[in-house]
Amino acid sequence: MTDRPRIVLDCDPGVDDTFAIFTALRYCDLVAITSVAGNVGLNHTTRNALVALQLAGAEHVPVHQGAAGPLNGEVIEDASHVHGAAGLGGVTPPELTIAPASDDAVGALLDATADGDTVVVAVGPLTNLALALERDPTWVHRVPRLVIMGGSLDAGNVTAAAEFNIWADPEAAARVFQAGFDLTMAGLNLTHQVRMGPPETVRLRDAGSPTAIFAADALDFYADYSRREYGIEKTAMHDPCAVLEVVRPDLFAREPMHVVVETQGTHTRGMTLCDRRLNAESANASVMTAADGEAAVDLIVAATIDPLGVSG
Ligand code: BDR
Ligand code: CA
Repeated sequence: MTDRPRIVLDCDPGVDDTFAIFTALRYCDLVAITSVAGNVGLNHTTRNALVALQLAGAEHVPVHQGAAGPLNGEVIEDASHVHGAAGLGGVTPPELTIAPASDDAVGALLDATADGDTVVVAVGPLTNLALALERDPTWVHRVPRLVIMGGSLDAGNVTAAAEFNIWADPEAAARVFQAGFDLTMAGLNLTHQVRMGPPETVRLRDAGSPTAIFAADALDFYADYSRREYGIEKTAMHDPCAVLEVVRPDLFAREPMHVVVETQGTHTRGMTLCDRRLNAESANASVMTAADGEAAVDLIVAATIDPLGVSG
């Protein structure tokens, strides 16, 4: 395990985003969360980020609200059928005692990374990041690494070609991939190697902490969708993979590739086209290809039980 890396987490909670927040709290110095519309509307994603922090006893982490929709217009469709109408799998969240620190996620991303030593982890649509680049084109030079959950080396999930986070705002994703970040991509090809389901909900409920019980209830809903839709017992734990890439890179394999985001295609809008030709253009991304799923799941479960690592 590396020293606790400083990260800012851009997310759209979302069940797996909630697990990513607990994972980030446990293993990183989480300096801020920025919210974006995606899985559900912005009011829900912002509130859900606060819920996760409050449950974890991490009220000190500021949440900055961000973009309510993609760069080019309205939200076409969210993922509430996967994550529940309010984004937390139908679980009734506790009453909030904390509030967003601001509605300027872009400013927060720029401020949090001003030291040049803060990694950006983005696990929702990339709208806030594209807007940060627009506000300050030099931003890319102060971000030592950007790790995203998004895209895929092979199949999509919203369409045959497109993964949800990229599909939800392809123009933003295209700008981010072209910007020159040291960018690592945790796509569906990778995150489907890190799955959680009934055995993990048993472990969480046995542990019995507030975060574990809450997460187990949300995971039941999320895994149920995978069971009905794909016929698989366990569901991909997408977003925590991007956090774990920062703290336990040894658990993953990756390959440098040139990746472009398709913004036009009739059937391929939102696709991350990963060029694997021997004579491809020089790489602009490190594409994660393999995971030690069991070790990753153990780390996510431990973080969810005890996000602040207080129980020793
Ligand atoms: C991604 O889309 C969202 O539904 C999940 O939170 C994850 O970030 C997976 O395609
Ligand atoms: Ca997400």
